[in-house]
Amino acid sequence: MFRRELLAIVQPDPSAEPGLVFFDGTEEDGRIRRGRARSRAGETYHIENGYLDLLDHGLGADNIANLTNYLPGASRLYEPLWRVRSLNLLTGERFPNDREIDLVSALVGLDRGGRFLDLGCSAGLYTRTMARRLGGRGDVVGVDISPSMLKEAARRARRLGSSPSFARADIKRLPFMDGSFSGAVCGGTLNELGDPGLALRETHRVLAPGSRLVIMGILQARTRRGRLLQRALSTGGVSFFAPDEVQRLLEDSGFRPDPLETRGAAFFAAASRV
Ligand SMILES: C[S@@+](CC[C@H](N)C(=O)[O-])C[C@H]1O[C@@H](n2cnc3c(N)ncnc32)[C@H](O)[C@@H]1O
Repeated sequence: MFRRELLAIVQPDPSAEPGLVFFDGTEEDGRIRRGRARSRAGETYHIENGYLDLLDHGLGADNIANLTNYLPGASRLYEPLWRVRSLNLLTGERFPNDREIDLVSALVGLDRGGRFLDLGCSAGLYTRTMARRLGGRGDVVGVDISPSMLKEAARRARRLGSSPSFARADIKRLPFMDGSFSGAVCGGTLNELGDPGLALRETHRVLAPGSRLVIMGILQARTRRGRLLQRALSTGGVSFFAPDEVQRLLEDSGFRPDPLETRGAAFFAAASRV
């Protein structure tokens, strides 16, 4: 599903004029269920399986960690097997998804309304929950490179009765106009990006001045065993950050970070887009 009005801010090619036009398919309450949209240069993009595909047939994945997100079983099992308990395990506290989303929503300023981006949305936990909380006061767009994750995200959103938009795109080349969002959230994805600095600079570009960015991620382990495990995972493309590294990445990308909140092995980084 993709809200028709949002096609105006889509810019798959940074050197071309922004904006896509919906030209055939089915639409309900201003949301495109399936169909095609076209750029001014005549490129066609499909909306099916619940998302707008801006990568078309390109694979998008560039490491092993990303490839595992393409497996259909992984998208179905990701939330029930891992996500419902991930923060309990990482923080060592009782940390259900609702508590996490309350915290992320408060830090990103969801109450102010506006247009929000969920970077690497996977099965859409933040996207659908934030969209439901926002109601008619704005939009949430979930972005991911994995077709199976996006299909699952759209399925879960429908089941919850929430109506976010989903797009298949690479965070390192976000297909949106400069300054087109009022906030962005990123749950766990920064650890999976080969070049987190590039992704943060792209996020800075698509956020309007004064917008907020909130990142939940995993810190570098402090024990020897943890470090060994993380070293093994890093060969698959996952990286882990020291607290000052997170803050430096944000500053170098043009953000003004709040003091970093760390809970066990997890961090919540919030920052303002200067
Ligand atoms: C750790 S999961 C994110 C979990 C999700 N945010 C949540 O809170 O449940 C990382 C996701 O980022 C996606 N991803 C990895 N690299 C990406 C990229 N360059 N562009 C877009 N999505 C990416 C993967 O496909 C995967 O679904």
